[in-house]
Amino acid sequence: MMKSIEFKVAPDWDEIEKIRNESAEFLQAHELSDDTIHSLSMIISELIENGIKYGNFKMVENQVIVIINIERNTVTIEVINPVDESAFEHLSRLDKTIQWIRGYQDPFEAYIQRIKEVSRKPLNDQESGIGLVRIAYEGKALLDFFVGDDNLLNVSVVSNIDGEDRI
Ligand SMILES: Nc1ncnc2c1ncn2[C@@H]1O[C@H](COP(=O)(O)OP(=O)(O)OP(=O)(O)O)[C@@H](O)[C@H]1O
Ligand SMILES: [Mg+2]
Repeated sequence: MMKSIEFKVAPDWDEIEKIRNESAEFLQAHELSDDTIHSLSMIISELIENGIKYGNFKMVENQVIVIINIERNTVTIEVINPVDESAFEHLSRLDKTIQWIRGYQDPFEAYIQRIKEVSRKPLNDQESGIGLVRIAYEGKALLDFFVGDDNLLNVSVVSNIDGEDRI
């Protein structure tokens, strides 16, 4: 069975649902439980959404790349998108957010903290800042990122899989 799969995603909101379904099929083939597939799908959607929201798609060929890799005890999800200078502020927020989550023993506490802050903000705020902390908590996942060659931002999530996560 294939251990990894890669998707090339156009920066289009409609693509998110499509990749969500296709990646769920891949995960099902690996006999993960519905709950686990549900939280991994949430992670994939949140990361693609961020890639589309904050990526640089000025060149028509620019796209978001999603790579999912399954090992015995972990699922790794990488989402790659081009960035430019205008994303500098976002990269710094991405860094701060990930460091902030790591500062908590239990990501659930970070999640609760964030929910409280968000509830004080206006409803139509595009950048509610809940996506990454939700990934950490609901996906039992570790987040990381780096900017590689050609200004490609790689955001990765490693989610632990145990016996309960399989069918
Ligand atoms: N792919 C990315 N490229 C550049 N910056 C990013 C990327 N992903 C996240 N960020 C930065 O990290 C911040 C936190 O991301 P997070 O997904 O937690 O929240 P959000 O996207 O602002 O809101 P929400 O996910 O709740 O809609 C973002 O506001 C953005 O500044
Ligand atoms: Mg987000």
